[in-house]
Amino acid sequence: MRFDAVGLGALNMDQLHMVERIAGPDEETFVRGLVESCGGSAANTMIGLSRLGLRTAHIGKVADDREGGLLRSNLSSEGVTDFTVVADTGRSGRVMGFVDPDGNRALYVDPGVNDTLRVDEVADEALNTELLHLTSFAGDGINVQVEVIEALDESVTVSLDPGHIYASRGVSELSDILERTDILLTNQRELELMTGSADPEEAASLLGIGVVVVKMGARGVRAWDGESVMVDALSTECVDTTGAGDAFNAGFIYAWLEGFGLEVSCRFGNYIASRCIGGYGATESLPGTGPGCPQEVR
Ligand SMILES: Nc1ncnc2c1ncn2[C@@H]1O[C@H](COP(=O)(O)OP(=O)(O)OP(=O)(O)O)[C@@H](O)[C@H]1O
Ligand SMILES: [Mg+2]
Repeated sequence: MRFDAVGLGALNMDQLHMVERIAGPDEETFVRGLVESCGGSAANTMIGLSRLGLRTAHIGKVADDREGGLLRSNLSSEGVTDFTVVADTGRSGRVMGFVDPDGNRALYVDPGVNDTLRVDEVADEALNTELLHLTSFAGDGINVQVEVIEALDESVTVSLDPGHIYASRGVSELSDILERTDILLTNQRELELMTGSADPEEAASLLGIGVVVVKMGARGVRAWDGESVMVDALSTECVDTTGAGDAFNAGFIYAWLEGFGLEVSCRFGNYIASRCIGGYGATESLPGTGPGCPQEVR
């Protein structure tokens, strides 16, 4: 089967602890609550696309532990074909957050086995796709992405959302990936980090990428694909912005693959992002009726 879109990026379990206060060195404090949710940027975007009815898959690596099992079953229940490799030892990726009653946060990222993914572990059938969507790994996982895109058929469209992690690695470290990237989905700060410019046209020419999309939060999107486009964000009640960028990517990629142009794709990205920020979590409030998605009440 040929997939419409396949994601390749780190998989993490997000564990948000509500604490009395954030402990300093040698201090002790209490946890009052814990909220867990499945994370990973490419995975979130594949879930968004699956809910919109596309055939999707995800490539990543977890350990043989509780978190790994939850991450995998979440993908499957959302109808995302699961090409996750399971390591015999080690821990699955986790992001441990600690938030105090004033909203101050401390985050600890444990990449776990994410970066131990090897190219020979990637199933050939996972690369039979219209589009491959890349998001960041904390460490050596980037080398697998380079090897995968080298092996990729020329007909496959490659989209990249570098996030802060890849953007801060700098353009020279990303050069092998940027050379094969057809669509760059990024935010203004990340684009400036990479190119010194917030202008999508200038960035496209500096990076040699055909389509550059710059997400600007409540200020909307600027994009360039030979023509310039500026699209306002929807005015939405903002409940939680977790995953807004991933949701935008799902909307944009969906419309782009359906053959709509740059402006419509940006508008649809904004719409899916607005649905995401209208509720809690990265995927809970995304529209659609995928297998793992609660039916919408009409
Ligand atoms: N306050 C807001 N009001 C309306 N839309 C918003 C708001 N914040 C974000 N969005 C929508 O979400 C999209 C993506 O958010 P943003 O521009 O913050 O991207 P990002 O920095 O990549 O996000 P993330 O931190 O999730 O990676 C925006 O293009 C916009 O459509
Ligand atoms: Mg982002």
